[in-house]
Amino acid sequence: MSKKKRVAVFVSGRGSNLQALIEGIAKNGIPAEIVLVVSNKPESFALKRAESYGIATAVFSPADFNGPEAFTEALLKRVREADIDLICLAGFTRILPSRLLAAFPQRIINIHPSLLPAFGGKGMYGMHVHRAVLASGAKFSGATVHIVTEEIDGGPIVCQEVVPVDDDDTPETLAQRVLDVEHRLYPRALKLMAEDALEISGLRTRIKQRVD
Ligand code: GAR
Repeated sequence: MSKKKRVAVFVSGRGSNLQALIEGIAKNGIPAEIVLVVSNKPESFALKRAESYGIATAVFSPADFNGPEAFTEALLKRVREADIDLICLAGFTRILPSRLLAAFPQRIINIHPSLLPAFGGKGMYGMHVHRAVLASGAKFSGATVHIVTEEIDGGPIVCQEVVPVDDDDTPETLAQRVLDVEHRLYPRALKLMAEDALEISGLRTRIKQRVD
C-alpha cells in the first residue's frame, strides 16, 4: 500500500465532482486524503461541501490581489504550506498559472465533460461543451480526466469513458448523463495517480499495475 497522497481540489462551482472524490476515496480505498479545497469564488457551493467534511478551505479571488504575480505567489504559498502531492481540478474555471504547473509537473489532473481531444480548449467548459457537441451532430460524447499541461485540455489522458448522445438530448440532459459518468471516472483517475500506477510517454499513458 502506497503512502497516502495529500490532495488539494480546486473548484469554482457546485462541487459535485469534489463530492464524488470524497466519497470515492472512502469507498474504494484510494491512498489519498483531501486536505485542502481551493476556490476562486467565495460563493461556491463546493466550499460548503468541503466544510461539512471538515476539510480546510481557501478562497483565492484574483480580484483581491495586486496583479497575477501576487495571486500566483499567494496560491503557491498556501498549497506548499499544506504539503500537497496532487492537485485535482474539479470544475475550476481559471487557467492555472505556469509557475503552479511547473511546481507540480504531472501532478495536476482535470476532469473535462467531453471525449478529449474533441470539444476542448479555450472557452470550452461546462454547458458550452455540451452545446457544441449537440451542434456538431456527434453521436457520442463522454468524459475525460487528463494531466494538466500548458496546452489547455491537451495533456496526457489518464482515463476516459464514452457517453452516447440521444436523438432528443438537450444540453441539460446530455450534461447530466455525462456528469453521472464523471462521478465514477474521477475517483478511478485519482486512484491511478495516487498509486503512481501510470507510465507516461508523450501523450500516451499506460497502467503499470492493475488497480481495479
Ligand atoms: C463538470 O461537468 C466538469 O467536467 C466541468 O465543470 C463541471 C463541474 O461540475 N469542467 C469543465 O468544463 C472544465 N473544462 P461540479 O462543480 O459539480 O463538479
